[in-house]
Amino acid sequence: MHVDPLQQSALSFALSVATGLDGRPRRLDARYLYDAAGSALFDRITAQPEYYLTRAEDRLLAAGARAIRQAAGPGTLVELGSGASQKTEHLLDAWCAAGPAAYVPVEVDLHALERACTALRRRYPSLPVEGLAASYERALPLLPAASPMTLAFLGSSLGNLGWHEAPDFVQSVADILSPGDHFLIGLDLVKKPAALEAAYNDAAGVTAAFTRNLFVRMNRELLTDISPGAIAHVAFYDSDRERIEIYAEARHELLIRVPAIAREFRIARGERILTEISHKFRRPSVVATVERFGFRLAWTDQTPGTGRGDAENEFGLFLFRKIPTPVRAAQAARAAVALLAETRARTLEMVAPLTDEDLQRQHSRLMSPIAWDLGHIAHFEELWLLRDSETAATDEQDAVYDPLTTPRARRDQLALPSVATIRQRLLDVRRRVEARLAAPPSKPSSALMQKVMQDGIGFNLVAQHEAQHQETLLQAIALREDLDYRPPFAGEPSMPVGFRPPIESLLVPGGSFVMGTDDRRWAYDNERPAHRVDLPDFHIDACPVTNGQYLAFIDDSGYTRRELWSEAGWSWRQATGARAPAHWRTRSAGGWEAVVFGRLGPLHPDCPVVHVSWYEADAYARWAGGRLPSEAEWEKAAAWDPAQGRARRYPWGDEAWQAGRANLDQRHLEPAPAGAVLAGRSAYGCLQMLGDVWEWTASWFDGYPGFQSFPYREYSEIFFGKQYRVLRGGSFATRATVARATTRNWDLPERRQIFAGFRCVRAPATLSR
Ligand code: TRP
Repeated sequence: MHVDPLQQSALSFALSVATGLDGRPRRLDARYLYDAAGSALFDRITAQPEYYLTRAEDRLLAAGARAIRQAAGPGTLVELGSGASQKTEHLLDAWCAAGPAAYVPVEVDLHALERACTALRRRYPSLPVEGLAASYERALPLLPAASPMTLAFLGSSLGNLGWHEAPDFVQSVADILSPGDHFLIGLDLVKKPAALEAAYNDAAGVTAAFTRNLFVRMNRELLTDISPGAIAHVAFYDSDRERIEIYAEARHELLIRVPAIAREFRIARGERILTEISHKFRRPSVVATVERFGFRLAWTDQTPGTGRGDAENEFGLFLFRKIPTPVRAAQAARAAVALLAETRARTLEMVAPLTDEDLQRQHSRLMSPIAWDLGHIAHFEELWLLRDSETAATDEQDAVYDPLTTPRARRDQLALPSVATIRQRLLDVRRRVEARLAAPPSKPSSALMQKVMQDGIGFNLVAQHEAQHQETLLQAIALREDLDYRPPFAGEPSMPVGFRPPIESLLVPGGSFVMGTDDRRWAYDNERPAHRVDLPDFHIDACPVTNGQYLAFIDDSGYTRRELWSEAGWSWRQATGARAPAHWRTRSAGGWEAVVFGRLGPLHPDCPVVHVSWYEADAYARWAGGRLPSEAEWEKAAAWDPAQGRARRYPWGDEAWQAGRANLDQRHLEPAPAGAVLAGRSAYGCLQMLGDVWEWTASWFDGYPGFQSFPYREYSEIFFGKQYRVLRGGSFATRATVARATTRNWDLPERRQIFAGFRCVRAPATLSR
């Protein structure tokens, strides 16, 4: 028996409750339905006269088990969500009859699993049974060792995953299976609503008790105080979405206090909390959907299209064989071309509204002439994808486009080629790169280049480099207050408020987490290696500090009170005379407005403040009774998932960015209001960790323990030390390709051209509970 140590964590239960109850519609994670009492109730559900699913599946398994074993061939039988393993016995009979076999039941409820294992060992004395007490996500990575295998997922459990989760889940199954392995799914089929609704509303009230038990469990494990009598079970069929929805409805107003995370939730009378969904399926779309993930149907209980009417067509069994997927290298090359092309298209769109004169002039000593950035983009691409980087830089362009030989402040004195020449060079280099991708050289020219070209690392590096320069270009353009800039990709100027955060500060309970990453394909050298960091409890702002909050600091004489500023910050303030963020203007009538990409307009009080220096952020935090977070605090709050015991790639999970998850990728040229983009929240409930504004942290930029520079010292290492402060999280102007929870940016503390804001942390003692 293998027991996942994270199984019983009350903290992950509490955080999951908070995430679910903050959401709209409110929901609770269905995995918590299955404690010991819940599993026992579920077994009773399967015996109710209205709940036809289990009996229908059992009949199909009894009739089909031998054919399934024959189609799947020998191997280990692995079962996800095995429960009491009752219906599995038909399969085990067939497996044992056909030759040597082994069984691996995977189940969240440890006690149900232990009981099932004991019963099975008695019934099948010679069958090796190796139980795994874990959630699906935690179990899947441990399973490849069981190959050759048939992975069974019965009871229509796939239907309990949501629209996004079901495909992700099939993908993760595809990832862990080897070609020749099998995936056996049992699914409930679309049928008359009355039969479906009866199954989830049994007359004996067992399903209602199952729903209520979730609240009994919260009372016991989370010390909430919910009267189970206040919870009504509501289940109905949504025929548009072809799914049963199950809710807990509040019979009167509920106050749910969760002491472990110092949160409380008010549920109005009549309000519903979604506890489970159960999709119903159609045979042809099941086959088509699963086959897209590299499977072929190997067996099913009937031939698709020969449905014999409702009664025989209650439930379906589908056995899929994993087939070999096309060569990874070809896929990677195609992805690289697409990424480079998409990135270049944005660069060109970005400069399209500008004249050659706009491109060639240096408008601020802080920035390069835009034409220099363009030439440098081509130069960098040539350097890392077309040339042996170990041969010394030879041609004269190298010196021009080398950021170290030619620092920004001096780039106005350069004799840059004409804009037309630079554009031509961008194109020429790209053509040669595409040719190289189509016919890669058999031997890289050096050991370093071999590493750079491995797994498409060089292409990702070059694409990310260009993407980062796009943000630099936008910074340069934003500094030109005389230029009314409206690029085609930026769409709507602002985003709607999705949700107002109910609280300002969130508790991140103490404990260790893994900071940074070991990923080599996308991460930069400064994000590596992954390492454990232990932190005490802290509270962190749910959202970045807003214009409205920052105005209160200004109005409270924040800029003139010496005690709020660090020594260096005060000298900076004195020298610059700053009394508001960059681009802010006083109105004649009093109050402030701001110039945003050449347009003067009102400040939105709910939008994160942007264009502040580190010194200003630090002074504000002191004024507000807090401090800036360390990088480690920021990253833990953004990425750590205590339920899984691992870091997420993004605050919301590992899935790629989409518009609803963060205000990234230059779709809007300003931050979204605090509380928007709820879908991007982190496990601890923090919003807008990625996108909107880069966030200043208290940390100096330095290497993590065990740092190794790659591909060259000039990327990060030469900036290490007590000179640059780290910024985290990306802004609205950051491309999604470069925005990860581990991405680090750095700049001098006085800089304000960055789209930078901040959030604060507080020690637990300063907060009253
Ligand atoms: N896989 C089962 C189904 O979708 C799970 C289930 C049955 C269930 N009855 C339930 C889940 C009641 C929650 C509540 O049918």
